[in-house]
Amino acid sequence: MIVVTGATGNVGGELVRLLTAAGEQVTAVSRNAGTPLAGVRHHRGDLGEPAGLKDAFTGARALFLLVAGQEPRAVLDAAAAGGVRRVVLLSSQGAGTRPHAYAHAADFEHAVRESGLAWTILRPGGFASNALAWAGTVRAHRTVAAPFGDVALPAVDPADLAEVAAVTLREDGHEGRTYELTGPRATSPRERAAAIGAALETEVRFTEQSPEEARAGMLMFMPEPVVEATLAILGNPVEAERRVSPDVERVLGRAPRTFGDWAARNIAAFR
Ligand SMILES: NC(=O)c1ccc[n+]([C@@H]2O[C@H](COP(=O)([O-])OP(=O)(O)OC[C@H]3O[C@@H](n4cnc5c(N)ncnc54)[C@H](OP(=O)(O)O)[C@@H]3O)[C@@H](O)[C@H]2O)c1
Repeated sequence: MIVVTGATGNVGGELVRLLTAAGEQVTAVSRNAGTPLAGVRHHRGDLGEPAGLKDAFTGARALFLLVAGQEPRAVLDAAAAGGVRRVVLLSSQGAGTRPHAYAHAADFEHAVRESGLAWTILRPGGFASNALAWAGTVRAHRTVAAPFGDVALPAVDPADLAEVAAVTLREDGHEGRTYELTGPRATSPRERAAAIGAALETEVRFTEQSPEEARAGMLMFMPEPVVEATLAILGNPVEAERRVSPDVERVLGRAPRTFGDWAARNIAAFR
């Protein structure tokens, strides 16, 4: 059995579907029950309260772990006590490029490496699904407002992350590896808005926001240090954040999905 934390999210939801389709028994963990998938056991649990996760881990052989809560060591100990031998951590590229700003993810990485379990760390860059933040204005008046409109970054499709997670959870040969996961090419916010327009077969207008406007919007749903680190990456990425990584292709044997592909599959959110 494989335990998937964050099981109702963009990555976790797809991962649960892939593992189940491959015939794996899955225990899906999140704080709120999502839409249940046939045959999947859901465990309502909070990574911030490791004691409540004990039952979820009983009889599990592998764990897909999210960076959430403040006690990764207690979560990993509970997992090992339940039988888990392998952990795949969904960290963040920022743990490598900006360890100070991403101390939370860096702390989880450290705990995973020291856990005594066979570990694999996934370090994704920004997700294609972050464009869902634009869905409201695209639906209402076919516009997107974002900062740093011409700064290109290789956004990664959460479906590729789920596929890489499924492989590394189920197959040998990925132990002790840290994978940088990106899309196949860097695209700017302006180009991503145009790709959504292309999938809608209509024009989507792009308006450049000032960093201050963007900051005010982001502060409504993200803590301040995360907002500052995100704005720094979006506006002034270092070379390692601009770079297309070969790791999705290395693990999956095919190129990563494009942003246009993500937009086409998720276009219902923008109609
Ligand atoms: N978006 C990006 O650009 C980006 C880049 C790099 C890394 N990441 C990392 O990727 C992770 C997953 O992204 P996503 O888009 O799949 O997330 P998402 O769609 O927001 O889903 C998050 C999932 O985690 C669960 N969750 C959140 N806090 C939890 C907790 N304390 N205990 C147990 N479950 C919890 C949520 O369910 P409940 O709320 O019901 O618990 C949900 O199932 C993010 O959390 C972030 O650390 C994201």
